[in-house]
Amino acid sequence: MKSKIVNGFSKLNKKGKLDKLSSLFNDTHTAINEFRSFWHEDEKKQQLFDEFSENTLSNFYLPFSVAPNFVINHKIYHVPMVIEESSVIAAASKAAKFWADKGGFRANVISTSKVGQVHFSWQGDVRKLRAEMPALKKTFLRSTESITKNMRARGGGISDIELVDKTHELADYYQIMLKFETVDSMGANFINSCLEEIAAQLKLYISEKTNWSESERKCTIIMSILSNYTPECIVETHVETNIEHFANIDPSLTAKEFSYKFEKAVDITKFDVYRATTHNKGIFNGIDAVVLATGNDFRAVEACGHAYAAKDGKYKGLTDVSVDNGKFRYSLKIPLAIGTVGGLTTLHPLAKRSLEMLGNPNAEELMLIAASAGLANNFSAVKSLITMGIQVGHMKMHLWNILNQFDANDQEKQLAVEHYKNHKVSHNSVRQFLSSLRIRSAT
Ligand code: MEV
Repeated sequence: MKSKIVNGFSKLNKKGKLDKLSSLFNDTHTAINEFRSFWHEDEKKQQLFDEFSENTLSNFYLPFSVAPNFVINHKIYHVPMVIEESSVIAAASKAAKFWADKGGFRANVISTSKVGQVHFSWQGDVRKLRAEMPALKKTFLRSTESITKNMRARGGGISDIELVDKTHELADYYQIMLKFETVDSMGANFINSCLEEIAAQLKLYISEKTNWSESERKCTIIMSILSNYTPECIVETHVETNIEHFANIDPSLTAKEFSYKFEKAVDITKFDVYRATTHNKGIFNGIDAVVLATGNDFRAVEACGHAYAAKDGKYKGLTDVSVDNGKFRYSLKIPLAIGTVGGLTTLHPLAKRSLEMLGNPNAEELMLIAASAGLANNFSAVKSLITMGIQVGHMKMHLWNILNQFDANDQEKQLAVEHYKNHKVSHNSVRQFLSSLRIRSAT
């Protein structure tokens, strides 16, 4: 074991790191060349990418695509999406087109509040702590003035400070719970900087309470960190139409049958966690792709969305459907803490281009767009699932991946696309199709 530990790895340059790992590959030379082949030819750009992370060896490409013609609040967006899964862009584009002439997506941001917490232990009478809160709040606000100055100038800052007594759940456990407005930034660094300052001030303030007992003058800061659960940074988007518009949506279903099955499919997600998880995954196909394309933190968005899906104590699908008097309404309400300034949004050249493509939206507008992309993807998924199933479309899109796996050339690809317009795609059948083509061209 010990002999396999590499020391000083982070101090090596990129080439040194690759050399150090060379024994891990069967074909060292080819492997190293492969990593190098993905380096950007512009050294400055490559350095920028290297510095996004640590111990960088190369770049990992993902397709940058666009789902055009999203009508959101009467405005047209061509939505940049970064995702590796085939069918997602096609699904988003189809839904965007379907809803475009039916009023499009109507979206609104309900609230934009972010959350941060100082978690601490303290032993004493909580009434004493409570009595100090007005003075503590002033201290916290004053001590963070230099950190919050720019944010306040933009209309944000700390919007609420509260003492939370958690001792009934965990011995001696308290929180200073803060709310923040971070305007167009996601605000993680801003929030964490404020919290660490506030934690230091809390400890100091308590230690200086000379009329408190020795044990009361001691508080242990456990940690200070933003919460990725932001149930008050929330956006709602919906589509609606008369169900008669579903008349031609699928040859096997009447408009009424379609909306009945759709409603049931969504209702199921309120009762069955297995289905709810997959349903929500389909929503995140759209949301994550926009979040990634715009340089936002998709892990934060995912973690929050799933926690929100379980807010009632049971994990549920995030969308809601109603069919009343022939009117179909489909909506998604989801917390999305994303930004359009700061972090990768302005550093990553393609994230910058994504925002430009969207008309340089502010954070709230980006929330509307990402949520609508999520609803679009989910609508397409449910529509396919309750009609012909997803495999027909999915495998058609996946055909390219299979062809590439078999190293198909351009002519073979063209013939395969033609052939599979009328045949069912499977890994095996593509293999057979290609080998019969290859036998024919060899003879
Ligand atoms: C696949 O990426 C997403 C779906 O499974 C979503 C769903 O089942 O609703 C199609």
